[in-house]
Amino acid sequence: MSLEADIAHSADLIRSSQRLTVLTGAGVSKESGVPTFRDALDGLWARYDPAQLANAAAFQRDPKLVWDFYEYRREIMRPAKPNPGHTALAALERRFPAMSIITQNVDDLHEQAGSRSVIRLHGRISANKCFANCQGSPTPVDVTALEWDRGSGPPPCPHCGAPVRPDVVWFGEALPGDQLQAAIHASENADVMLVVGTSGVVRPAADMPYYAKRHRATLIEINPVESDLTPIIDLWLAGASGEILPRVLTALGAHG
Ligand code: APR
Repeated sequence: MSLEADIAHSADLIRSSQRLTVLTGAGVSKESGVPTFRDALDGLWARYDPAQLANAAAFQRDPKLVWDFYEYRREIMRPAKPNPGHTALAALERRFPAMSIITQNVDDLHEQAGSRSVIRLHGRISANKCFANCQGSPTPVDVTALEWDRGSGPPPCPHCGAPVRPDVVWFGEALPGDQLQAAIHASENADVMLVVGTSGVVRPAADMPYYAKRHRATLIEINPVESDLTPIIDLWLAGASGEILPRVLTALGAHG
């Protein structure tokens, strides 16, 4: 079948769905200029493996190095704006209010595009929390209200003095329990799941399409290349999400 026919078929499946769930990964933000972890780092950071920085042991060993790495990532994400893929997903939710997005991304681009039901599995890079979670998990810390020597690494938690860290899920850490439960629920109750821009290599996020499939959902993948999830996908739309998602939306509109 041609891509055009597959897009029309996807629109038919979505139109007759009762509960649409979307899983997104770094690919959906790619066209907004947000680099993924697996993209090569440039400049000062080129000699580091990001996975070696994004973990609690690295932070304990060298809090300034890890904090500076996240400050660098925040800096490159700051100008990013939602792309047509994010916008199309927000429009889809307006049309199918029972839809939810499960995202692995730590940027805010789904919300900026107007999506409301967003389940965040890996936290939010713009937020911070106490490393010791001294007031309960998580203990948010607003660093804009703090004064400290920014050249010296993370500020101390105003409650307990432990270093402040980004509110993201690092390798080896558990996902936020409420978000994980919500994601499993949305996956098990989906009759159609869109899997957009994820390599499907990081669990438990990559388990979500399996939960959906086990409960008889139809899986539609949008990715320019095959992912680890492609073998269980029913319909693969090969292309960039910023191009394909608006076309799916147009196909939906054309048929009422
Ligand atoms: N549109 C759709 N998909 C795209 C696009 C695009 N324009 N560009 C790239 N992709 C696809 C790639 O082919 C790849 O399959 O997006 C996927 C991105 O994969 P990863 O970089 O592995 O991102 P993700 O799956 O979100 O990673 C999961 O791992 O890096 C950690 O915690 C981090 O949340 C992240 C998790």
